[in-house]
Amino acid sequence: MPGPITPDARAVAGFSLASPPAGFVALPYPWYHALRTHSPVHALGPDSVFLTRYEDVLAVYRSPDVSSDKQVEFAPKLGAGSPLYEHHTTSLVFSDPPLHTRVRRILMGALNQRAIARMEAGLVTLVADLLDRLAGHAEPDLIEHFAAQIPVEVIGNLLAVPHDERSPLRDWSLAILSALEPAPAPAVLARGNAAVDEFLPYLRDLIARRRARPGDPDVDVLTRLMQGDAEGTLSERELMHNCIFLLNAGHETTSNLIGNGMDALLTHRDQLDRLVAEPALINTAVEELLRFESPLQLNNRRATAPVAISDRELPAGTFITLGIGAANRDPAVFPDPDRLDLARKPNNHLAFGQGAHACSGMNVARLEGRIAIGALLARYPRIGRRGEPQRDLRMRFRGLRSLPIALNG
Ligand code: HEM
Repeated sequence: MPGPITPDARAVAGFSLASPPAGFVALPYPWYHALRTHSPVHALGPDSVFLTRYEDVLAVYRSPDVSSDKQVEFAPKLGAGSPLYEHHTTSLVFSDPPLHTRVRRILMGALNQRAIARMEAGLVTLVADLLDRLAGHAEPDLIEHFAAQIPVEVIGNLLAVPHDERSPLRDWSLAILSALEPAPAPAVLARGNAAVDEFLPYLRDLIARRRARPGDPDVDVLTRLMQGDAEGTLSERELMHNCIFLLNAGHETTSNLIGNGMDALLTHRDQLDRLVAEPALINTAVEELLRFESPLQLNNRRATAPVAISDRELPAGTFITLGIGAANRDPAVFPDPDRLDLARKPNNHLAFGQGAHACSGMNVARLEGRIAIGALLARYPRIGRRGEPQRDLRMRFRGLRSLPIALNG
């Protein structure tokens, strides 16, 4: 079968993320390559650019002259004062110092290596149990019955959300994050606002119960966030919105690491067989799967002063869209970037971002990816497809809605 056609310079000239070309969301990589070749600093509007070169994306992540604060951008998009607006502009990922520094410091204190190491045994048991249950499904689906089940439990454990209260978390999270697409439809915004409105009273109640019976701040991130640290505490509003963010941040991204990763392995059977034969490859394999099909494809910044990138300067005020998925396929950094190579080294991918906002949960996600994919292949080395996967048609979060599998080929 011939490979996908790479768009030419003329096609690239009209490229827009707000109304992407047909086929882009399903397979953005040929477009990323063409943009990188013909228009690496691509204008999306008069003061808005899309970067696809690794070097440029990294320069912006590391620049002191960019802001993550989204008040200017989100006011017209989400409606100033709407629940979604309040949520997204209060969470650490979309804020600058001093709020960002304060929240991140307290959070990182809770997501340390010791706390992560403590998660491992519970995660192994959870995955083993899901693998037992997979065999009981007449039509097993890797997303619904496996990948989507793991992160909600891990984050639920981190915040010590009682098990019988976890079922709405996934839908709330999907609804809130979907509003971040480049051009969300009114129904998407309505669902997102309703989700924040339902989530907040739930958290208020959870926090009141935790205040009455505090947990161990060494393992219970909610207690830790409520107590703050020697240098400061969070207001009630900051606390609630950052809990929502934490639940969301670690949720879909990690499901998509497992789902996209398994889909890539099923497509590249030689690599799947390689991992089955050499389970010790799991660490580099997870990094390569993160590079190859990055769960988060886009990030954003706004220039607060002129920002120098490889061959030009972006003026103050420019809205910058960072192409994580594009940077991770840049041949200048990753030789033969469209080849999946589970032993690839070095592999300094940008799937977790870089700089001041680099993912706080990256080692939690890596642990989940290693245990989930490693145990799945150890138990079902002949796993195969049972039908066509269904893609989730969003471009910021890359993932599958469904991946029908046959456990024994
Ligand atoms: C494969 C899974 C994951 C991917 C691909 C991912 C990706 C990212 C990326 C790219 C950023 C940077 C955003 C920016 O610079 O604007 C980020 C931030 C963040 N992530 Fe993750 N993430 C994952 C899993 C997790 C998990 C499991 C947690 C929590 C346990 C988490 C918590 C966070 C937090 C709190 C931030 C904000 C950090 C800050 O603004 O300082 N993430 N993530």
